[in-house]
Amino acid sequence: MSIIKNISEIRERARKKIEDGAMTNNYGLDKDQAVTVLNEALATELVCVLRYRFHYFAASGINSAGIAQEFLEHANEEQMHADQIAERIKQLGGKPEMSPAFIAKHSHSEYVEGTSLADMMREDLIAERIAIETYREMIRYFGDKDPTTRRMLEEILAKEEEHADELADLLFAVTPSSGEEDGKLYFKDEAQATAENQSPDSDKTKATLQGKSNSAK
Ligand SMILES: [Fe+2]
Ligand SMILES: [Fe+2]
Repeated sequence: MSIIKNISEIRERARKKIEDGAMTNNYGLDKDQAVTVLNEALATELVCVLRYRFHYFAASGINSAGIAQEFLEHANEEQMHADQIAERIKQLGGKPEMSPAFIAKHSHSEYVEGTSLADMMREDLIAERIAIETYREMIRYFGDKDPTTRRMLEEILAKEEEHADELADLLFAVTPSSGEEDGKLYFKDEAQATAENQSPDSDKTKATLQGKSNSAK
C-alpha cells in the first residue's frame, strides 16, 4: 500500500509556485533560518580558504615544501565545500552571502596568520576543530527534516576530520613545543609502539620520520 495519501493535492501544489524550484511546501524547516545557518558555514569555509592559501604562500624554505603542499590541498578542498554550500543555499531559494564584511562577521573560525610554520598548523588545526564541532551541530539541526543538506554536511564533516587528523600528525611531527628549533621529533601515535621507537635517535625512528615527511609531500 502506498504511503503517499494525497497525491492529487501534491500534484496540484507542484504545478503552483514552480518558480520555487526544489523548494516544496513540506520542507521541514524554517527556510530563512536554514539559509542563515548555511551562510555561516559558507563564511567559515571562505575564511578557511583564505587562511590556508595565505599559509601556502607564507610557508617557505626547503623543509616546508611538503607542508605548503598540504596547505594548498586543504585550501582547494575548503573552496569545494564553499561551492557546495553556496549551491545548496541557492536550491533553498536563498542568497549565498560572499561580501567580505559578512564573511568576517559570521565565520565561526578566525583568520589567524601565525608567526611560524608550527603556529600556522596549530591555527589551522584549531579552525578545523571549530568546524568539526559546528558541522556536528548543523547535522543535528537539519536531521531528517532536510536530508539532502544533512548528507552534504556529513560529507564535509568527514573531510574536516581528515584535515584535522593530517594537521595533528604534521604538527606533532614538527614540534614538541615551538617548532622553531631542531628538537626531538615526536609522533603521538608512534611513540609507544616499541621501546626502540621512543628514542628519537634510533634508526627505526629516523626511518619512520623520513617516511612521514615524504608522505607529507
Ligand atoms: Fe571545509
Ligand atoms: Fe578543513
